[in-house]
Amino acid sequence: MTGAVANAELRNFSGLLVLVGAGKMGAALLDGWLRLGLDPKTIAVIEPQPAPEIAALTARGLKLNPEQNAIAGATAVVIAVKPQIAEAALPALAPIVAPSTVVISIMAGRTLDSLAAALNRPCALIRAMPNTPAAIGRGITVAVPRNATAAARTLADRLLAATGAVEWIDDEALMDAVTAVSGSGPAYVFLLAEALAQAGAAAGLPAALAAKLARDTVAGAGELLHRSPLAAATLRENVTSPGGTTAAALSVLMAEDGLAALMTRAVAAATARSRQLAQ
Ligand SMILES: NC(=O)c1ccc[n+]([C@@H]2O[C@H](COP(=O)([O-])OP(=O)(O)OC[C@H]3O[C@@H](n4cnc5c(N)ncnc54)[C@H](OP(=O)(O)O)[C@@H]3O)[C@@H](O)[C@H]2O)c1
Repeated sequence: MTGAVANAELRNFSGLLVLVGAGKMGAALLDGWLRLGLDPKTIAVIEPQPAPEIAALTARGLKLNPEQNAIAGATAVVIAVKPQIAEAALPALAPIVAPSTVVISIMAGRTLDSLAAALNRPCALIRAMPNTPAAIGRGITVAVPRNATAAARTLADRLLAATGAVEWIDDEALMDAVTAVSGSGPAYVFLLAEALAQAGAAAGLPAALAAKLARDTVAGAGELLHRSPLAAATLRENVTSPGGTTAAALSVLMAEDGLAALMTRAVAAATARSRQLAQ
């Protein structure tokens, strides 16, 4: 789906969208929806401590912490509270969920079974895992549906696409590995910038210069990767001359015990932890 299509479809949305939890992720979604032209009058936000920007949207018709009966039978409910408070927050949502409601949860580790049990209502359920670049509209979200019609899935896709790309899977068991790759992945990239800066300082650069070079290199290479149709391996090969400086570094990074082996262990550890935490 192109951004233009998502844009048009969200602008024409005439149902009621309820956002539960407007912290970092919830606010990123809300920003994205508004950027795509969703009318604030079609949105209700449930949030105990709304940011001033969100409170200000009430002037444009957004409903903030409305009475339950004002939002009963919502078209879609997006749950963006911390997983730890799901037990407290979810049962209170049941009365606003109708059989036609599309419930989308972005809570890490909360399975479709646990969501269904907590809501205890027939409805379309979508479990989604976004990542932090959502804050700048450049996230990637993986979604798995249950009991969702094509229309429910399309609506969820459009809502989630407001913060970046969306991929759909059918096998919920893959969510642990998804969490380990894209959910936790931004931290690995930040660590790469840290490690490159440390290595630059160790090679004799002033610390501030090393940090700047590492940061801009990671950001610039990421942007190049984003804009290029080429595979990461091809982009790497394109900047590696035989016998050159990059090749010398890559012979270390690509050794048997190098980055690929380390990353495989790191992702396996995160996958195992996600499996342990899932409920
Ligand atoms: N951040 C990420 O990178 C990321 C990635 C993947 C998935 N997620 C998932 O996204 C969800 C939100 O994460 P976040 O980083 O945005 O957390 P967050 O900033 O703490 O946002 C959660 C918000 O929910 C509010 N809240 C608490 N109780 C509530 C209730 N009963 N009803 C409605 N709202 C309530 C919180 O208010 P108070 O502050 O007053 O408690 C807070 O503003 C989590 O489940 C997380 O697993 C996050």
